[in-house]
Formats: sequence, structure tokens, C-alpha cells
Amino acid sequence: MKLFIKPHIKKLQRYQTSLGRDLENGIRLDRNEKVSNFSNEEMACILSKFKNYSLSASPESQPLYKIIAETLNISPEKIFITSGITEGIRILYDFCTNPGDNVICLDPTYPMYFVYANMYQVEYRKFIFDTDTLIPKLDSLYNKLDRDTRFVFIPNPNLPIESCFSIEKIKEIAEICRKNHTMLVIDEAYYFFGAPTVIDLVENYENLIVFRTFSKAYGLAGLRIGFMVSQPQNINNISKSRSIVESNTFSMQIAEYFLKNPHLRDKHVLEVKEGGAFLQKELRKLGIKWYGGNYTNGILIFLKNKKESKQLVSHFKEKGIYIRGSFDEPFESTIRVSIGSKKYMRQFIHILKEWLN
Ligand SMILES: Cc1ncc(COP(=O)(O)O)c(C=O)c1O
Repeated sequence: MKLFIKPHIKKLQRYQTSLGRDLENGIRLDRNEKVSNFSNEEMACILSKFKNYSLSASPESQPLYKIIAETLNISPEKIFITSGITEGIRILYDFCTNPGDNVICLDPTYPMYFVYANMYQVEYRKFIFDTDTLIPKLDSLYNKLDRDTRFVFIPNPNLPIESCFSIEKIKEIAEICRKNHTMLVIDEAYYFFGAPTVIDLVENYENLIVFRTFSKAYGLAGLRIGFMVSQPQNINNISKSRSIVESNTFSMQIAEYFLKNPHLRDKHVLEVKEGGAFLQKELRKLGIKWYGGNYTNGILIFLKNKKESKQLVSHFKEKGIYIRGSFDEPFESTIRVSIGSKKYMRQFIHILKEWLN
């Protein structure tokens, strides 16, 4: 007997970037993760929080809800914890769309928005950037809205092209979406690196969902923990998607620990800010075109063509440094570099200079 697979899933192509990285010795500048590792002392402190029942008892998610709610000063009914923003995206497609619906997404962006659109047979419409100014073209969003648009997804700020909408602009977009009976999702994965938050708007917009994650500023991509914030009636329905429990004890306890110790996050953000300023200055000296590094922990570097971008990615890989290329047109000649402390940015610039010569 052959396993039955839905035909559109059979046709689905999945590409895995960043496979086979040497996590022990390599330098991770390819996935906008925290570049530096936690110190042995920090690790010892984090792990000391585990109790002798932590492994044997089923996970308890309430303490994490409580502390997220306290930290954001909102009620826990407005929160749903997910296995990273990525699971949140999947749940929205799964529970709130039908095949044939459409979504509009700022693009290029985090590729899982597109992958899940294909998986759930939803038309993916692009809210595009002006290729000269690198500013999102709002008319390409408004012109694409129609009665079958279930979601508008806007990572704010976005990567690989860094963009950052003001709260006023997001209000304007939320109003237009509301008139169209469309949910607006603001993905705040990179919050804490400088952009404003719209969590407070949830109170007034029943069509707004905000995503947050522990993967970026907290530097905890390995935990797979994030959450969404929306009005309680939305959360009540969306949370019916939960598995036996939202996540595992290990991840939830560590997330809790980091919320109680925000200096760990702030230390990382400072590292990124200092490393970013250094990187921008050095790229400017080299006369290389770049974009971003102000509201996120990523920077886009423009090379001559796709071939050069590919060569540079392999050159760095040979040196044990991972950077991200292979973006689709019209950004095929760019590379994206995750920003870490000055120490790592210095290594990056050193190798870049060698390659240029
Ligand atoms: C805009 C954006 N959203 C979400 C994610 C993934 O978040 P998580 O690790 O919480 O699934 C990324 C990761 O690169 C991202 O760039």
C-alpha cells in the first residue's frame, strides 16, 4: 500500500537553508540568531532553575502566561503561546483560511509565510518594495485587497529588506483591513532592536494580531517559543488549535527565566547595536552598498551580481562563517549578514576585505 499524500503536498518543494553548520566552531551570521554563545556561568544559572520534577511532570504553561501578561501589562486572555512565531503562522493558515482564499504579505520576508500559503492552498500575494528606494509600496498592498483576503502579514520591522512602519501607518493599514474584513498580522520578531510596538492597538482593533518571539533579541532560537497577542475572543478560538500543551517544560521555564532577567536580552541588544554601528562604518569605508541594521539584527549587502553573491557565501563557508545569499529576484545579488558583537563583525570585515582584494 502506498501512503496517501494530498497531491498539492506532493508537489510542494521545501528548501532547507543553513544545513550542516558547524555549531561548535562556526560563526552563525546566516539566520539572524544571537551570534555569541551564552557564557558557562549564564548557562549554569539558567539550568539551575530546573527542578527534580521538571522532566517527569507534564508541562505547566500558566506561569509563562502569567509572566508574559505581567511584562506586557495585558490580560493573559489576550495571549496564546506557540512554538515560535512559525507555529503561529501555521495555525492561522490552518484555522482561518480555506483553499482559494488569499493573503497579502510584505515580500521578501520570512519564507514560511509563503511555504504555508502553498501548504494550505492559499494564494500568496506580494506587498512589494520599491527596488530603488527599498520602501514598501503601499499601493501594492491596497490594490491587492479583495473580499477573499483573509490576512495581511507585515513583519515590522522586516528582513531581509529592513522596513519599519510607524504606529500611525499601521493604524491606517488596520483601518483599511477592518473595512475589508481582513485580519492584520504584525510580526514583531525583531522587536527590541529599535522599532515601535503595536501591542497597545490590540485593545482597539479586533482585526489585529501581533506576533512575538524569544528567538531574536532574547537569543533563544533553539527554544522554539513565541506567542501571539489579540483580543480575547480571537485568542479563545485560535487557542483551540493547541496540542496537549503549548510547549515543553524546558523551553517554557527558560523563557520565564529570561523574562525575569531582562538584562540578558538588553546585553544582547547592546552587542548588536555596537556590532551594527561598526559594520555600517566599515562597509561605508569600503564603498559597498548596504541597507538596514537599524531596527533588526540583520544587514543587506549589495554585490555586483548573483554569481558574486554565491561566491561570497561559499568563500565565507570555507572559513567557517555562515552568511545568507540565494534571495529571489530582484534581490538575487545581495547577501544578508546577521549582526553580532564587534568581535564577530571584525572577523566578517577582515574576510570580506581579503575577498575584495
Ligand atoms: C520576520 C520573522 N518572523 C518570524 C521568524 C521566526 O520566528 P520563530 O523563531 O519564533 O519561529 C523569523 C526568523 O527569521 C523572521 O525573520
